Amino acid sequence: MHYSTNAFLFDLDGVIVNTDRYHYLGWKKLADEQGWAFDEEVNDACRGVPRMASLEVILRHNGVTLPEDQKHALASRKNAYYVELLQGIGEADVIPGAVAFLQQARALDLKTALCSSSKNAPLVLSNLGLEPYFDTVVTGHDIERAKPDPQIFLLAAERLGERSEACIVFEDAPSGVQGALAAGMRCFGIGSPEFLPQATWTARDFLQLDAQALSHRATV
Ligand code: G6P
Ligand code: MG
Repeated sequence: MHYSTNAFLFDLDGVIVNTDRYHYLGWKKLADEQGWAFDEEVNDACRGVPRMASLEVILRHNGVTLPEDQKHALASRKNAYYVELLQGIGEADVIPGAVAFLQQARALDLKTALCSSSKNAPLVLSNLGLEPYFDTVVTGHDIERAKPDPQIFLLAAERLGERSEACIVFEDAPSGVQGALAAGMRCFGIGSPEFLPQATWTARDFLQLDAQALSHRATV
């Protein structure tokens, strides 16, 4: 099947910027303080997962149950650690080839959207001066249902005035890949095919990707 592609939709953390590392460090600091186990594998289960739901993943992993008010306080503490780490981010944190790929997409008149569950996405974009690369920015502030629900991608497509078939999503999280496919879109996994087996294609970063070739590529 051959589609014509009019829009690229990008996740943020782990796709455009390596902030997935800083989410990890924020949760790790909280977990160490609480005496909870937290490692890369648990972190992988939190990729693309909203703040409170990520905390639930960590609590479940540790067999801990807590009242709502304590959970909110802990999630706020992790967020404060994360926001502090964001103060130090710079160009070196951008995923290799991502900016060149965005520039190429725009030069080809492809529409671009940011689709991130993070409520800190606007802060990350402004810290790095990346806002001009996106026609629309959809974040955790704009949606009720998190990935793997397709809502964030469908809302982005609606704002861009594009049908799902004309969109390709770039994602590093299994929940994001599922959301993209549930939206009826093709999905380029940024990561390994072992971690993202459902993705239409995968690549480690954007260095090998050519926006023009991809916009003409068939699904198989
Ligand atoms: C993204 C990240 C997750 C993070 C979520 C919420 O989906 O991949 O690791 O938990 O955003 O981020 P926030 O900045 O709102 O806590
Ligand atoms: Mg991500």
